[in-house]
Amino acid sequence: MAPAHRARVLLCDPSSVAFDSPLSSSATPTIHDESTREALRIATDELLRGEPVVFPTETVYGLAANALSTEATGKIFSAKGRPADNPLIVHVSDLPMLYTLLPPNFALSDTYLRLIESFWPGPLTLLFPADPKIVPSITTAGHPTVAVRMPSHPIARALISMSRLPLAAPSANTSGSPSPTRAAHVQHDLGARGRVGIILDGGACDVGLESTVVDGLRQDGHIRVLRPGGVTVEQLEEVVGPGTRVLVHRRDYADTELEHAPTTPGMKYRHYSPKVPVVLLVPRSATLPGDGALESAKSVIDAFVSSLPHPVTQPKIGLLLLDDSPLQRAIADMCTSPIYTFACHSLGSSWQPAQAGHNLFDGLISLERAGVDGIFVEAVDETKEGLAVMNRVRKAAVETHWVQI
Ligand code: TXA
Ligand code: MG
Repeated sequence: MAPAHRARVLLCDPSSVAFDSPLSSSATPTIHDESTREALRIATDELLRGEPVVFPTETVYGLAANALSTEATGKIFSAKGRPADNPLIVHVSDLPMLYTLLPPNFALSDTYLRLIESFWPGPLTLLFPADPKIVPSITTAGHPTVAVRMPSHPIARALISMSRLPLAAPSANTSGSPSPTRAAHVQHDLGARGRVGIILDGGACDVGLESTVVDGLRQDGHIRVLRPGGVTVEQLEEVVGPGTRVLVHRRDYADTELEHAPTTPGMKYRHYSPKVPVVLLVPRSATLPGDGALESAKSVIDAFVSSLPHPVTQPKIGLLLLDDSPLQRAIADMCTSPIYTFACHSLGSSWQPAQAGHNLFDGLISLERAGVDGIFVEAVDETKEGLAVMNRVRKAAVETHWVQI
């Protein structure tokens, strides 16, 4: 790649940025670190010129551009190779900016007020009615709603606030691959392909999985989780009032119309997949209804290797396992095998599902870069952040096996 196409990586110190204004007024950051201020100024100029910029958020890195400009958002779609019918999330820094996006007669429901008060700024995206005279249809992909969130990452919020632009931002990855949670992930993907000019490096993302996408606009008053994410269903349930249910798509309800439209995140397109196959391993001591037959971890790995399209002399197996799982022991026996080499990445403790959320994409991307032939991911319990983790792993996986422990 010619050096002229290399992305400029600008280091930012998130701890040097502070917001003291309440949500309801325009957010103005105080930035103590000179080079962070300069990086944000350069990125702001770029956005105001209609160019996209990569920024860190608390969930994943985003590829941001002026959400109100058809030309600027068009550059996001072409940089990512994103299908035009997949709508973008618009990021705001404060409530006055949210209101500029909404039809003048729209009033926030009691449920939305509670959710905003509890989770903004943070990893929750809400659907609002869209007015195509305000938000161009390229951003919403022509849908009657617009998805909006207020990120809590100080660099993201400062960039929105300094540019005074609502920023459309999908995850900063080539469409279909795992979402980046570090600036280096973006450099190796969009950066190396000459697709982005500026990357603000604010360190590793805390949450590591994308925001929870919620539709609370339905007549019945219940809220629907279209994509589980950084705000857990358990947290949503604590906040919505009595009588309001939190329905998780595919778990609690089906929506055929939605499933044929791309608006339900990740339904229509390949998602979260590294370039090597991902295999989901579900550890079980006994089969449950709906499971396949129990296999041994060794037989699954052996069968995977013999099915590789090219014979590999010493296959390299990527493992993304929980630290305290019985699968560790089952596979440890194989690690002494002269046939295989293993590369391991931790999913954290099974008692702290947020760790699996934090580590999942980093693990998939790091193992792919380590040159493995395939990645075996351990299933986690689908509670709290585990629901979002399993949502991503199922979409990434080409096969699922139930393995004996
Ligand atoms: O955490 C996040 O949400 C990250 C960071 C950068 O903020 N962004 C992100 O964007 O994950 P993206 O484009 O990778 O995923 C957004 C998902 C898309 O799959 C899209 O289908 C869905 O949100 N979405 C956007 N607008 C929608 C709408 N109006 N109705 C239903 N789904 C929508
Ligand atoms: Mg994405």
